[in-house]
Amino acid sequence: MSPEFRPANHERTKRRDSETATSVSSVISNMSRARAAKYAAIAGVGALVTGCAENAPQDTFQPAGTNAQEIDDLARPVFYIAGVVGVIVLGVIAWVAFRYRDRGQPIPEQTHGKPALEIALTILPALILIGVAIPTVGTIMALDKTDDTECVVNVTGQQWWWEFDYPVQDGCMPGGITEPIVTSGQMVIPEDMNVLIRGTSRDVIHSFWIPRLNGKRDMVPGRVHNLRMQANEPGIYAGQCAEFCGLSHTNMRMEVAALTDEGFAAWVENQLEDYTPPEEGTVAAEGEASFIANCSRCHQVNGLEDDTGNPIVSRPDLQVYPGAAPNLTNLMTRNTFAGATWSLLRPGCRAEVWDAESDVFTERYLEGVTEDCFAEVDLSEWLRNAPAKKPMYADPEKLEPTDGLYRGMPYLALSGDQIDQLLAYLLELK
Ligand code: CUA
Repeated sequence: MSPEFRPANHERTKRRDSETATSVSSVISNMSRARAAKYAAIAGVGALVTGCAENAPQDTFQPAGTNAQEIDDLARPVFYIAGVVGVIVLGVIAWVAFRYRDRGQPIPEQTHGKPALEIALTILPALILIGVAIPTVGTIMALDKTDDTECVVNVTGQQWWWEFDYPVQDGCMPGGITEPIVTSGQMVIPEDMNVLIRGTSRDVIHSFWIPRLNGKRDMVPGRVHNLRMQANEPGIYAGQCAEFCGLSHTNMRMEVAALTDEGFAAWVENQLEDYTPPEEGTVAAEGEASFIANCSRCHQVNGLEDDTGNPIVSRPDLQVYPGAAPNLTNLMTRNTFAGATWSLLRPGCRAEVWDAESDVFTERYLEGVTEDCFAEVDLSEWLRNAPAKKPMYADPEKLEPTDGLYRGMPYLALSGDQIDQLLAYLLELK
């Protein structure tokens, strides 16, 4: 076959093939195009609708403090630039794929290299990346500053809850904090104050994340990582552990409650108040005895004393191998428990605090859990059988085979009466 016949043959065969193909494929493509359009519309509406959650307390696009604002100010322009680049690249690919699709034309002349284009396509992305890098580095440095700290809170992650410990310091409020405060689940800070979290972990790597106040920071055993927190207005800001950390990672939540300056001072004063034992002869008093017998091995309540006046000091590090448990002093000033997974407030009462406008939030938060608002069902279920409510490695028999990964509240086989007594006692801790 001489070379001059080839193109003609090729063309002819191709044309015949493509004519047949067109008639068949047009039927198919009309059908599938309609179907594809339908699926695309469903996917598009779905994506749009999921982006419209009204109640999204962990929405990183609603910054409520300076640190989160810095991130937002960086993320939006970068997102727009990336969006424009994405649209251009996808558009050009689509145009090329359509314009130069195979219609039986001869294979184009093969070349190697287009220096001008290659240099341009190297320099242009480099310029874009430099343009993005400059504000990124600036933001990273701003989020790393510690010299403007006004208040320090030590945060410790643990499977599966967060401990907040306020060391003695001059900061946080006029007169400073004169005695350490240890709490968990909810971190209370004054509004519009630069709080520095000094975070670590007691077991595995966790990640502290309050999306409306700042980005994530890993909390790593044996290290201390800083994270800035600042909230423009009083309110409650939800977060959750953002690093997979074992069985109940998903049940490891936390909140930051920002109060007015006076409200924060009142909170501190209340936390440091002396312990008041329940009145003798009450159910709560029986609950105190039950607490000492069943709970105090792991849970501390500051100021709790035994009959002889000796302080009951929990020794979780010695007796629960090798962990610890939340300090329950003033438990009912918080409104969530067990890794902030369940509410201590009934739904209506919870909404009154959580949805409160910033000018009344402080007052409502400081009310704590009142008898009328106490959501005792979850807490009593928790006391009855904690491991059934939240996945934990709380089975002492698994201690040996899991090499000491003994975490969480065990099943204590408490009686119904004991649970009622404990509920009455715990309700007084505020
Ligand atoms: Cu802690 Cu995930």
